[in-house]
Amino acid sequence: MNVDLSATWQEASRVTLRGRIAVVIDVLRATSTIVTAIQSGAREVIPVETPEDARLAAQETGADGVVLGGERGGLKIEGFDFGNSPYEYTPHSVGGKTVVMTTTNGTRAFAAAREADITFAAALLNIGSVANVLLHEGRDVAVICAGTEGRVSLDDLYCAGALIERIVTPGCDWVLNDGARLAVHWYGSNTGTSFDVLASCAHGRRLAELGFHRDVEYCSGVDTVTVVPVLKGRSLVSR
Ligand code: MLT
Repeated sequence: MNVDLSATWQEASRVTLRGRIAVVIDVLRATSTIVTAIQSGAREVIPVETPEDARLAAQETGADGVVLGGERGGLKIEGFDFGNSPYEYTPHSVGGKTVVMTTTNGTRAFAAAREADITFAAALLNIGSVANVLLHEGRDVAVICAGTEGRVSLDDLYCAGALIERIVTPGCDWVLNDGARLAVHWYGSNTGTSFDVLASCAHGRRLAELGFHRDVEYCSGVDTVTVVPVLKGRSLVSR
């Protein structure tokens, strides 16, 4: 079996994903927020590329209880209900609702994964549950790190390395591409906590500057959530 890692969603859009399971990772913060929204009881999360797409998708669903979430420049988009802080996605705010979400990189990574057979959303929060699903499926995996505006994000690479290490057990015949090997190496070379790693990455520092230090702390939590969001049509729902 193969694990093929793309370090950015732009790289993933140039890779053949047919026949593979895609795992989208945007630890800071899109997939952490999506995982939290679904764990909080959101009916579905619809990831879209632009704020205009989000408004259109909200109109099209025509469902009661549609909310708009996401960010540009890390901040809530004008006219939207929520930003991209996982703390906003509580059972009270999104329980039973459809969340249409657009973020700078993370939600675009789901569009880049559209060719894959199955697509899951992963973060440190639900890494153990995602690893168990991948081990159960036993198929080729494409790990898609969202990255930040076309550049590598060490926070995503760290989570990817942790995930790959959990699925590639000694004695199994997994073949890792160079990106996957790099992620495992980066993950293994860290001696600090997951918070130390996320807080020291460029995007972690940027979020702290914007006042989202608590989000970085929250997104550093490992195995705190059991839900595994899977893409069904255009919606992420609980697997
Ligand atoms: C993104 O999609 O680029 C991130 O989720 C940005 C953020 O932290 O809000």
